[in-house]
Amino acid sequence: MASANIFLIFLLAALVATPVAVAQGGLLSGLLGLIHIDGVLYCSPNGKLDGINGSTTPIFPNAGVQLQCGAGNVISSTTTNGSGVFSLVLDPLQNLLSSVLSNCSLVVTTPLSTCNASLPSVGFLQSPLQLVGKTLVGLLRIVNLSAAGFQLL
Ligand SMILES: *[C@@H]1O[C@H](CO)[C@@H](O)[C@H](O)[C@H]1NC(C)=O
Ligand SMILES: *[C@@H]1O[C@H](CO)[C@@H](O)[C@H](O)[C@H]1NC(C)=O
Ligand SMILES: *[C@@H]1O[C@H](CO)[C@@H](O)[C@H](O)[C@H]1NC(C)=O
Ligand SMILES: *[C@@H]1O[C@H](CO)[C@@H](O)[C@H](O)[C@H]1NC(C)=O
Ligand SMILES: *[C@@H]1O[C@H](CO)[C@@H](O)[C@H](O)[C@H]1NC(C)=O
Repeated sequence: MASANIFLIFLLAALVATPVAVAQGGLLSGLLGLIHIDGVLYCSPNGKLDGINGSTTPIFPNAGVQLQCGAGNVISSTTTNGSGVFSLVLDPLQNLLSSVLSNCSLVVTTPLSTCNASLPSVGFLQSPLQLVGKTLVGLLRIVNLSAAGFQLL
């Protein structure tokens, strides 16, 4: 009898605690895994290191990078830093991995002519996403995505 009561108390405690964790998104986000999108943007017509000797391609700093889904809905946006590095973190509760991979792309909103006047001033670099890997950081699952390949569109 006593153990049944203790079980009931634990059950009640769990029921009381659950909505709080769900409301904070912490528990579920951890279980589903945060979605990270990282990369380095280069100042070239495909946003990549060019040619065999890539070290000569400069990076593309201060470039706007957006995650667009469906018919161009902006889900998240950032700017490349002084090293051309961009990083986006998505809430997995609002962005299911499968639909992000199938339905979203990275769009560079700053024209290439900004980093090299010889490059086009019209069109934007766009890339679909690819899965890089999944890591466990403590209890938190992190899903890493990257640009599959930029194209000037
Ligand atoms: C590659 O680039 C570096 C730095 O610009 C230069 O020192 C090196 O000679 C280049 N190598 C080739 C094979 O072009
Ligand atoms: C694609 O994204 C748009 C905008 O976020 C959404 O309305 C649509 O339902 C998504 N389609 C799929 C197949 O996930
Ligand atoms: C850009 O971000 C990367 C990754 O966070 C960092 O390693 C690098 O030092 C940053 N560069 C600048 C110039 O802030
Ligand atoms: C600028 O772009 C042109 C055309 O692609 C290229 O030949 C040149 O090397 C680029 N300049 C720099 C500094 O990267
Ligand atoms: C995912 O990204 C994190 C942070 O950028 C990094 O520490 C981790 O090694 C990456 N994991 C994989 C599998 O790429």
